[in-house]
Amino acid sequence: MNTTIIAPSVLAADFANLQRDIEMVNNSQADWFHIDVMDGQFVPNISFGMPVIEAIKKHAKKPLDVHLMIEKPERYIETFAKIGADIITVHHEATVHLHRTLKQIKDAGCKAGVVLNLSTPVSVLEDILPDCYMVLLMSINPGFGGQKFEEMTYAKVKKLRKMIDEQGLDTLIEIDGGVNNVTGPKLIEAGADVLVAGSYVFNAENPTETIAHLKTFKR
Ligand code: DX5
Ligand code: ZN
Repeated sequence: MNTTIIAPSVLAADFANLQRDIEMVNNSQADWFHIDVMDGQFVPNISFGMPVIEAIKKHAKKPLDVHLMIEKPERYIETFAKIGADIITVHHEATVHLHRTLKQIKDAGCKAGVVLNLSTPVSVLEDILPDCYMVLLMSINPGFGGQKFEEMTYAKVKKLRKMIDEQGLDTLIEIDGGVNNVTGPKLIEAGADVLVAGSYVFNAENPTETIAHLKTFKR
């Protein structure tokens, strides 16, 4: 049994105290930093870009899991790799030539993942799965933190788990949106490997303990 990978979403951090919040994650049981990049086109919100990620990278002692919520992410892959991304995930809905974009991410020296919106069935990944280090299933409509978890996600996780196991792969399943102490254990049970948590961690009275608690969820 593998332990759950926890990726706190920096989107929910206090940007005026970013270094403090990065150190909290460094000193916690979290595994990765989840970094949400939004362009105001693919999603109806703009988050932050390269200068902020470079600043995070200077202090982060754990890998950066960069979630690109941008149109045509292929335009910026090399830039994100250069400023310190370790894992780059792109939306299936945002790039026409997904196979080429995944190769571009790997050629840039990063691990490559695909993100699916709620309405995109996991079946679209059947042929591309061997090329994916990770699949990120959105459990909310992307663009904002603090939204309500969509229950349909559990069935999608189970289906994707089955696809991965049937193909004998070790592709990771990551879930993003509304992860907390209620949804987290059920997601792991359904077959997820990585939990992203934004507001549940950073709005907690004790974020370090909250991360430690998320880390206890096991299949
Ligand atoms: C939303 C982002 C998420 C967000 C999750 O589009 O992709 O990573 O930070 O926030 P919570 O955990 O608060 O739902
Ligand atoms: Zn995200």
